Amino acid sequence: MNVAGPASLRREPLRVAAVGGDGIGPEVTRAGVRLLERLAGDRLEIVSMDGSADRFLAEGVAISDVEWSLLGRCGGLLLGAFGDPRVPDHAHAEAWVLDLRRRLELYANLRPIKPLHDALVPLRNVRARDIDVLIVRENTEGAYSGIGWQRARDTSEEVAVVEDRITRRGVERVLAAGFALARERRRRLHLADKSNAMRAHDLWRRVFDALRAEYADVEATAMYIDALCYELVHEPAQFDVVVTGNLFGDIASDVGAALQGGLGVSPSACKKLDHPGHVAVFEPVHGSAPELSGLGRANPFASMLSAAMLLEHLGMPDAVARVRASMTRAVEARQTTPDLGGKLDTAEAAEAVLERLQG
Ligand code: NAD
Ligand code: IPM
Ligand code: MN
Repeated sequence: MNVAGPASLRREPLRVAAVGGDGIGPEVTRAGVRLLERLAGDRLEIVSMDGSADRFLAEGVAISDVEWSLLGRCGGLLLGAFGDPRVPDHAHAEAWVLDLRRRLELYANLRPIKPLHDALVPLRNVRARDIDVLIVRENTEGAYSGIGWQRARDTSEEVAVVEDRITRRGVERVLAAGFALARERRRRLHLADKSNAMRAHDLWRRVFDALRAEYADVEATAMYIDALCYELVHEPAQFDVVVTGNLFGDIASDVGAALQGGLGVSPSACKKLDHPGHVAVFEPVHGSAPELSGLGRANPFASMLSAAMLLEHLGMPDAVARVRASMTRAVEARQTTPDLGGKLDTAEAAEAVLERLQG
């Protein structure tokens, strides 16, 4: 599943697009870029793009054709967050978040749940070492396929339909990726669907049954998504890799975020696994948090961890472990933003991590 060897890091410049977006997006992305600069040094070429609602409202374009082609020539994209109350139909966020995932075929959204420190785990009698879950969320179809219709809007006869469209190809590739990742980890996989109420979800079950025979060394269990959310909180230690559809993965990853200290520390990677050299996207799980925007209270850890995942994608295999070790020390010293109990602002909290980086 490794997409590029360390050699690529040594040889070529690393072109990375950074797109802050809205609300706290630009503030936290600045911290992510600082981490990239620190770890990748002068090999790094940052291509900054303006993905904000301001620009969308001024120009009517979320991603221009020139930007699309430039994005395709970057090794990875570091995104902030998109969403602004002045764009109620979410048009520019849809382009930067959903269109990018679909167009680049980033079918696997990897969302790790692994607390940095015991103090960040909100559960009784559960320690950080008890939680190490990788949510593998299908990222291109399902309820996010963009298919649906509305009729008789704003009348008592109104009907609204959103189609949850899954394909065998889409289900197979993300489940196969999950099994392969489980093999590199603790060899345990849970599928979560809702095939008891949504009959077409039996596609997940049939593909799962076929693949579990191929990956007989992985202990595989199928669950319903409601039970999975319950068990994630009730007994998180039982989970290793969790594979689920697009909408359920979105929800389960926010539940998971709460287990590790919150959205401010939860990173993610959107990948087209098994396609060496593909353009991948890295972004915090959180959104634009308009109420925190410009206050310096946003936690930069999720963006910095996403940036570290980007560096791993580009061939720096120890980037996440190094950044995590440094963050753990910052948490111990209470050198964090208020959401983790500290008193630092966004830039200071980022600095506290950078100054503790070793090597
Ligand atoms: P949100 O993630 O922005 O905020 C949820 C809660 O988490 C809020 O209490 C917020 O203050 C807190 N929070 C989030 N990030 C934090 C950080 N870095 N540090 C400290 N606290 C943090 O979700 P929301 O309020 O539901 O959505 C706000 C906007 O963001 C909406 O427009 C939504 O569509 C959008 N959104 C975008 C993305 C994305 O771009 N990938 C993801 C989720 C939501
Ligand atoms: C996420 C976000 C997006 C999603 C929104 C902004 C469309 O919540 O990345 O988790 O649902 O995928
Ligand atoms: Mn989400």
